[in-house]
Amino acid sequence: MTTTQTTPSETSALAVLNRRDFIQASAGAALVFAMGNLPGSARAATVHTLPPLPFADTALDPVISANTLSFHYGKHHKAYVDNLNKLVTGTEFADMTLEKIIMATAGQADKAGIFNNAAQVWNHTFYWNSLKAKGGGEPPAALKQKIEAAFGTVDACKMELAKAATTQFGSGWAWLVLDADKKLQVVKTGNAELPLTKGLKPLLTIDVWEHAYYLDYQNRRPDYVNAVLDKLVNWGFAADNLGA
Ligand SMILES: [Fe+2]
Repeated sequence: MTTTQTTPSETSALAVLNRRDFIQASAGAALVFAMGNLPGSARAATVHTLPPLPFADTALDPVISANTLSFHYGKHHKAYVDNLNKLVTGTEFADMTLEKIIMATAGQADKAGIFNNAAQVWNHTFYWNSLKAKGGGEPPAALKQKIEAAFGTVDACKMELAKAATTQFGSGWAWLVLDADKKLQVVKTGNAELPLTKGLKPLLTIDVWEHAYYLDYQNRRPDYVNAVLDKLVNWGFAADNLGA
């Protein structure tokens, strides 16, 4: 089945997405709709694309090196995008947005390949936006208030995140989420699983797959997690996702 490429104008539209738009646009920002009739195809296909990193590849150094980014973004994240496009071509999922694919395949053993790749595309785009150079520090006031209501202090929230990140057995993710009662929680998920399928709204995430830290920290996952929380975590992105 034929697919289409991202045009320069579409690429530039993706590049200028601001963080507040991420949640709403994530279903569309990581992918591009091919609206025209394609030769040899009865319907238009949705082509998922690798969004640009929201920072330079050296911006997170030394906490996360350019070498790690080159593999993590340039190889792993890209592979999830490429695999997803191959897996959905010619299927009922070919025209769906990324979020619709995730929700439609979650928990279905015979769709695990599509779910895993779609969720990993979403998770990684969310992770890159959860980081920034010279991050950490104090969250914006509205988020800080929510954090203090749920955890007592910002440090206590960071400790919960660190605990979730370091106790996730094997590959997975640690998340700050907003639950159905509008209360903050820290949760962890295994492999490609994500809070969206559990009715929880993600605010930020930390990738704890070994590929996220092994080149820089080898087996010292706690050192990676604590360095991210102290120096890179993007509280502004989490605050924007609150919708406050
Ligand atoms: Fe990863």
